[in-house]
Amino acid sequence: MNKNLEISALPGDGIGVEIYLEAKKILNWIDNKSKYSLNISEMSVGGDSIDKYDEPLTSETLQKLLVSDAILLGAVGGPKWEKLSYDKRPERGLLKIRKELDLFANFRPAIVFNSLVSASTLKPEIIRELDIMIIRELTGGIYFGEPRGIKKIDENNYEGFNTLIYKSEEIRRIARVAFETAKTRNKKLCSIDKANVLESTELWRNTVIEISKDYPEVKLEHMYVDNASMQLVRNPKQFDVIVTTNMFGDIISDCASMLTGSLGMLPSASIGVNKQGKRSAMYEPVHGSAPDISGKSIANPLAMILSLSMMFKYSFDDELIANLINKSVNLVLDKGYRTKDIFSEGCKLLSTSEMGDAVLEELKNEKL
Ligand code: IPM
Ligand code: MG
Repeated sequence: MNKNLEISALPGDGIGVEIYLEAKKILNWIDNKSKYSLNISEMSVGGDSIDKYDEPLTSETLQKLLVSDAILLGAVGGPKWEKLSYDKRPERGLLKIRKELDLFANFRPAIVFNSLVSASTLKPEIIRELDIMIIRELTGGIYFGEPRGIKKIDENNYEGFNTLIYKSEEIRRIARVAFETAKTRNKKLCSIDKANVLESTELWRNTVIEISKDYPEVKLEHMYVDNASMQLVRNPKQFDVIVTTNMFGDIISDCASMLTGSLGMLPSASIGVNKQGKRSAMYEPVHGSAPDISGKSIANPLAMILSLSMMFKYSFDDELIANLINKSVNLVLDKGYRTKDIFSEGCKLLSTSEMGDAVLEELKNEKL
């Protein structure tokens, strides 16, 4: 019997639209070939929604997201909307989804594909077979802390302020997710903070230690964020699972992505429990809308396609489809097919849609 799934698709802005079209090819293939019957609703978010409805996320869209089985998002933002007030900006739409659906656990794997070892700016021996899982707290910290704003002090002077705040329970729940993840991997967890300077991350460190008592099999280590970023570039293979705050996770994950050769390769999953107690999840590439390359058909759709793989693994517990997608991406790379961002001598340069087609061709050889 077919299993019905409601999938909300939010292509968004810039290259988000282009790479979504490639993910859609894969979704259609799954719809036709597997036990799933996919009902895909395409909606607007970010700048696209601002242009159409004058706000980055409408309440109708949010309502739809709250009841969907999984969300696939492209990217939001671009120079066109940069001058808008903070509340009107495209990024606000994304942050609102994270907050309203309580997507507090953000999984950002940084994996080096064998055939892409040479695409990294780091020496091959430093990054070969690298496989790190960064778990970023996504609904708290300085991104959402109050008070925040820009205040006028006098004629020529303003004051900009944000609040870095964490409550024990917010830290406990992300720490548990991190320890559980570490248990299924190499049983090594590194918690990143700035406990020597910031009280809220001193609480972070103490709370992670408190939770560690329930996970004696996991080896816990703590690192200050400045040292951690240096270690990530110096010797990234010392890490397995990393857990950190919203802002540190934002920065560290971009840094880790470049170890793998390109930001265009990294998928992510944001998981939480919505107000009705139902598991909610959004999948998106780690990269942004890349306005500089949008409309040129050169964007790499692989992070988006790999985000679909994460969707089937995390939301639908379907490792079979998740692995098939991963395998197809691997085969395409092994054949030397590359988009511009990961191109090197001797490889075959593909456009965005040619890369989507190449993955689809590999999938077509597979039986479900
Ligand atoms: C990310 C992005 C977002 C963030 C932006 C677009 C709001 O950089 O997902 O890493 O800062 O979280
Ligand atoms: Mg970021």
